Amino acid sequence: MTETKSSARRVAVIGTGAIGGAVARRLLAEGHHVVVWNRTASRSADLVNAGARPAGSIGEAASSAELILLTLTDYAAVRQCLAQLDGDLSGRTIVVMCTGTADEARQAARQVAALGAHYLDAGVQASPEMIGTEAATILYSGSRPAFERHHAILGLLSEPRFVGETPEAAAIWDLALFGVWYDAQLGLLRALDTVREADIDVAEFARTAATQLGHVVTAVPATVSELREADYPAGPANLAEHLTVVRHLIGLRAGRRLGDGGLPPVAARIEELIADGRGDEGLTAAIG
Ligand SMILES: NC(=O)c1ccc[n+]([C@@H]2O[C@H](COP(=O)([O-])OP(=O)(O)OC[C@H]3O[C@@H](n4cnc5c(N)ncnc54)[C@H](OP(=O)(O)O)[C@@H]3O)[C@@H](O)[C@H]2O)c1
Repeated sequence: MTETKSSARRVAVIGTGAIGGAVARRLLAEGHHVVVWNRTASRSADLVNAGARPAGSIGEAASSAELILLTLTDYAAVRQCLAQLDGDLSGRTIVVMCTGTADEARQAARQVAALGAHYLDAGVQASPEMIGTEAATILYSGSRPAFERHHAILGLLSEPRFVGETPEAAAIWDLALFGVWYDAQLGLLRALDTVREADIDVAEFARTAATQLGHVVTAVPATVSELREADYPAGPANLAEHLTVVRHLIGLRAGRRLGDGGLPPVAARIEELIADGRGDEGLTAAIG
């Protein structure tokens, strides 16, 4: 994850908030020439003191570098910023580092293509403090040649992972991974909320809940292999048994402030499979 100073490159960082600031600092620390532009110019002052060159306009920032990183709040901000770029950016690479939907990534890619530049979408699975450390993961998709050309620089920010040649692949990975976290964490919160209200010792319950979460992690390889082989063995419970528990959970969670976690459509899907004679299969069959 390092590059020598003799190969210093010029990189534009557009948007110097938490992520953009961390990215710019990391590139400066590795001896690269960093050009920064931020809508609120005063917020880039620390970076300028640390050696970044401030650009007078977003266009100046973009035209001064072969690699342009857009580290902005959302794709609405990305659209606005890209719309301000009217010059020819042929041969340059624009990397959009923000959380959003597949449609938004595709739209950004079209805007970038119209400017003649290569597009990379980036899903940042890291906090600002993690940028440049082994703990950071940044997922890239879009132009593979552009990813390979800038691999060394991108490798200073995280272990760079290329996840597909469609512009939206990184956005889908990014949101789906956030979804795994939200589903697990909210499942835990729903359970804690329920047991606390029943005067059950939350700490004692949480220890067993942690074991339960561990079962999900342990089962990841088996789940993937079931999907790959389109074979859905029942495992600890078959669909008919799962349906009974899911219905009980819907009842337990009825009227609760965090809702039922979307279980009614799950119950409906299991009922459909049972009606098709697949009641002896396991839960993975729900997406099989
Ligand atoms: N922070 C995290 O832990 C984290 C982790 C993973 C992913 N992400 C994602 O990374 C992206 C950046 O997050 P962040 O934490 O760096 O956000 P942030 O600290 O709030 O910074 C947002 C940046 O976007 C700029 N901006 C917003 N709207 C703009 C507009 N219309 N035109 C021009 N510039 C605009 C802001 O400029 P001003 O200074 O002028 O407001 C600022 O530079 C987000 O998509 C976020 O979901 C963040």
